[in-house]
Amino acid sequence: MNRIDALVMGRNTFEMVCSFGGDWPYNKPVFVMSTTLSNIPEKYTHKAQLVKGSINEIIQNLNQKGYKHLYIDGGKTIQSFLKEDLIDELIITTIPILLGGGSPLFGKLKNPLEFEYVKSEVFLDALVQDTYKRKR
Ligand SMILES: NC(=O)c1ccc[n+]([C@@H]2O[C@H](COP(=O)([O-])OP(=O)(O)OC[C@H]3O[C@@H](n4cnc5c(N)ncnc54)[C@H](OP(=O)(O)O)[C@@H]3O)[C@@H](O)[C@H]2O)c1
Repeated sequence: MNRIDALVMGRNTFEMVCSFGGDWPYNKPVFVMSTTLSNIPEKYTHKAQLVKGSINEIIQNLNQKGYKHLYIDGGKTIQSFLKEDLIDELIITTIPILLGGGSPLFGKLKNPLEFEYVKSEVFLDALVQDTYKRKR
């Protein structure tokens, strides 16, 4: 979180985070992508803002406001950024639970995207977090 200026997340992830209750987990501005929400629920208006438009327009707009290092969250949202080759770093945490089903982590791409391995860390003796940087 110290390395980022703001978070951009999909509506589903935003709604999931809101459903956790308790303290708001982020100390950076949160921008929520949605075509269906017309406003952020009142309880969260000081925490999150809605953003509309194409991904490139959204990024340009946020960059102009000084938000340069963005943390992207949410399955579909990450997939749509990957599709435009707009992800510079991937942080993937593996949790040792076999679900037996689920949604693909990565969607279809226009071209294969090559990443460079950076590091792996283990948390709580259970979670393995791998970091990759986009090879440009
Ligand atoms: N395991 C993890 O680390 C992790 C991380 C993040 C999320 N999650 C979980 O994954 C689930 C959410 O993933 P998800 O795949 O459903 O997606 P999501 O990316 O959180 O939300 C998808 C929604 O975001 C909006 N959106 C995404 N891309 C957009 C774009 N380019 N333009 C406009 N709006 C866009 C759309 O909202 P509208 O329908 O309103 O247009 C879309 O339906 C949640 O259950 C969450 O908790 C898990």
